[in-house]
Amino acid sequence: MIYMDNAATSWPKPQTVKEAVIEALDNAGNPGRGTHSHALWSSLKLDEVRRKLAHLFNVEDSMRIAFTHNATHALNIAVNLCYGQIVTTAMEHNSVLRPTVTRGCYHIVEATKTGTIEPDKIKKAITELTGAVIMTHASNVTGEVYDISKIGEICRKKGVLFIVDCAQTAGIIPIDVQKMNIDVLCFTGHKGLFGLQGIGGIYVGPNVRIKPLLSGGTGSHSFSLKQPDELPDCFEAGTVNTHGISALGAGVSYVTRIGIEKMCEMHTALRQYFYDEAKKMPKLDVYGGISVGKEKPNTGIISLNVKGKDPAEVAGLLAKNGICVRAGYHCAPLAHKTLDTENCGGTVRFSMNHLNTKEDIDTVIYMLREMA
Ligand SMILES: Cc1ncc(COP(=O)(O)O)c(C=O)c1O
Repeated sequence: MIYMDNAATSWPKPQTVKEAVIEALDNAGNPGRGTHSHALWSSLKLDEVRRKLAHLFNVEDSMRIAFTHNATHALNIAVNLCYGQIVTTAMEHNSVLRPTVTRGCYHIVEATKTGTIEPDKIKKAITELTGAVIMTHASNVTGEVYDISKIGEICRKKGVLFIVDCAQTAGIIPIDVQKMNIDVLCFTGHKGLFGLQGIGGIYVGPNVRIKPLLSGGTGSHSFSLKQPDELPDCFEAGTVNTHGISALGAGVSYVTRIGIEKMCEMHTALRQYFYDEAKKMPKLDVYGGISVGKEKPNTGIISLNVKGKDPAEVAGLLAKNGICVRAGYHCAPLAHKTLDTENCGGTVRFSMNHLNTKEDIDTVIYMLREMA
């Protein structure tokens, strides 16, 4: 079997991640809700994993990271933190677009025809009404990594919040919230961080006014009828997913042992090879711009279509031959308007990780050639 659906969820999970779940099943109590050994084990585990994440994203104070159910939950918290108009982009996932549109008062910046977001366009879109820029670090359709350092600088100069969705880049592309001027970072645990589904998180910087999205038990200030306003409790209403957090910690360690720079290099090189091979076939439409070496990293995603064939049919044929990919719109409707793939059923998306090989790509290319 060749697994190329890591942008949906990563597979296989490292052995250490599986062991971390068992360890939590054997040891976890309810974190922050007791002083017995099991409750303390959980509290210490949460603290350890917060620190690991803080190290990965260069967050100064790990207590500014709260655990969420996934990136979508984190992004809903983030949208709820915004005042004024939100500037976002046409390359966003519905996890950004839907809460933003539901809230109202937003402006969507167009991308180029190949899905690039130009920092200057964001700069021009920011007006005195703007309170925040929310955007993805990388497209989940084309894999292109956007220049968030430059956009972060623009946001800082203009005095607006910079909120980044790193669902597709955490664990794959280096992220430094301090250097990149990121005020809020939303991540998921089950993709590049190799954790389980149902765990994610949010970093909230010191410039952001706290406004909880959900209220409920936190184990702290139990006698107060109001949600605490300090981090991380303000965003952790209800019992957190300690087993998922334990696994996430093992996933983060797995990534840091390999090295985030190395991860980035491996994803970019595989994607480059796939792109070069796919471009040799005139019967394929390959979407997104080319990425070259370290200067222009990529998350290992490539979207394409076999001319005249429904993407779902192509993915179905690949699945019958043991190749796991995803077809369709990938929850990014405006990206497909941009790439002109809205009327052809979207794209076939191949999303590789560092475990894929050039031989995997050769096999896939052979099958695509046969279909074409
Ligand atoms: C760019 C982007 N943002 C947000 C999400 C949502 O992540 P989750 O399903 O973990 O909430 C995804 C998931 O595919 C994504 O690709």
